[in-house]
Amino acid sequence: MAVLDVAVVKKDFPILDQQVHGRRLVFLDSAASAQKPQVVLDAMRHYYETTHANVHRGVYGLAEEATALYEGAREKVGRFIGARSSREVLFSKNATESINLVAHAWGRANLRAGDAVLLSEIEHHANLVPWLILKDALGLELRYLPLGDDGQLDLTHLDELLAGVKLVGVTALSNVLGTIPPVRRIADAAHAAGAVVVVDGSQYVPHVATDVEALGADFLAFTGHKMVGPTGIGVLWGREELLDAMPPFLGGGDMIRDVRLDGFVVNDLPWKFEAGTPPIAEAVGLGAAVDYLEGLGLEAVREHEIALTGYALRTLDARLGDDITIYGPSDPASRGGVLSFSYKDIHPHDISQVLDSQGVCVRAGHHCAKPLMRRLGVGATARASFYLYNDETDVDALADALSAASDLFG
Ligand code: ALA
Repeated sequence: MAVLDVAVVKKDFPILDQQVHGRRLVFLDSAASAQKPQVVLDAMRHYYETTHANVHRGVYGLAEEATALYEGAREKVGRFIGARSSREVLFSKNATESINLVAHAWGRANLRAGDAVLLSEIEHHANLVPWLILKDALGLELRYLPLGDDGQLDLTHLDELLAGVKLVGVTALSNVLGTIPPVRRIADAAHAAGAVVVVDGSQYVPHVATDVEALGADFLAFTGHKMVGPTGIGVLWGREELLDAMPPFLGGGDMIRDVRLDGFVVNDLPWKFEAGTPPIAEAVGLGAAVDYLEGLGLEAVREHEIALTGYALRTLDARLGDDITIYGPSDPASRGGVLSFSYKDIHPHDISQVLDSQGVCVRAGHHCAKPLMRRLGVGATARASFYLYNDETDVDALADALSAASDLFG
């Protein structure tokens, strides 16, 4: 299996070659948004400099080339996640919009007052709020898979919780705890109960080789900017038969075959769900990101992150001991490289500011997971997250910077 040469990978990311506050930039916030390799920046720039025109509209050469690039990116993304057909791959604005698409198009067509939806306590707001909106609009019952004290979802009562459930929504990798729920097991149980399964893959697809068939989901939402692609583009993969039966989400140009003053006929998949001018340059950039990740190999990326997460857990424990509480599973092989922590009684925002003065970027706050913060009994945490360009020197810099925070705040 390929091994990640992080020294080489780092050089692919021009932004990392800089100093902040007189220190080497140590970027540990890829769970919020990953940095971009030169090949992605070049692909987008080249597209704008040589090929830009609107897609699916013009019949001149430039427009046809732009359309081919846009649809080519869709093919790449579909292959990357094992989709049976690119008709199952929809481009959106981000993962949040992708989940909203499922909630509003599938949900409003298939859910009625009193129907139950099963989510989990560790979901990002993106996989909570769309269902809370539908709960209020339709009168749904929302149920939640609880978080166990081991940082894993507690599936003890899965079958009981699934009774009468029409849809299950679960993250494939928690953006706070790094927890990797057994999506396949949950999906199999959900299907046996007659439910449809939507998976939030925002933190999973960029880090773990993904095959939608193996995952067992019916819908998978993820975003470009966390997988070294640009902001402004997300993906919704869905089973063709489900997408076919769903009404459109947004209305406008391109999602129609015909419009009269008294009605319209929807376009074929996937364009039925892509109203208006789509994120064309962003799709080109996402296609280049997929090429880049495939060139490195997702297995190598995952192995690297397991090793680095193990090193971080050992290093922070050895250097900071009981002063640091790291949330989530303790086994690096059963979690992602996302370390949320409390340190002494220093406020996470203070931690983040002191770390920034040392060149280390981490996120602080509720991480768009307020119900999970309440479950953990904290208002906020600091969070370091790793990706393919991080190495042990970055973890050492984090530990050094936390020691500096301790010196400052006592
Ligand atoms: N969902 C992103 C995060 O966890 C923004 O930081």
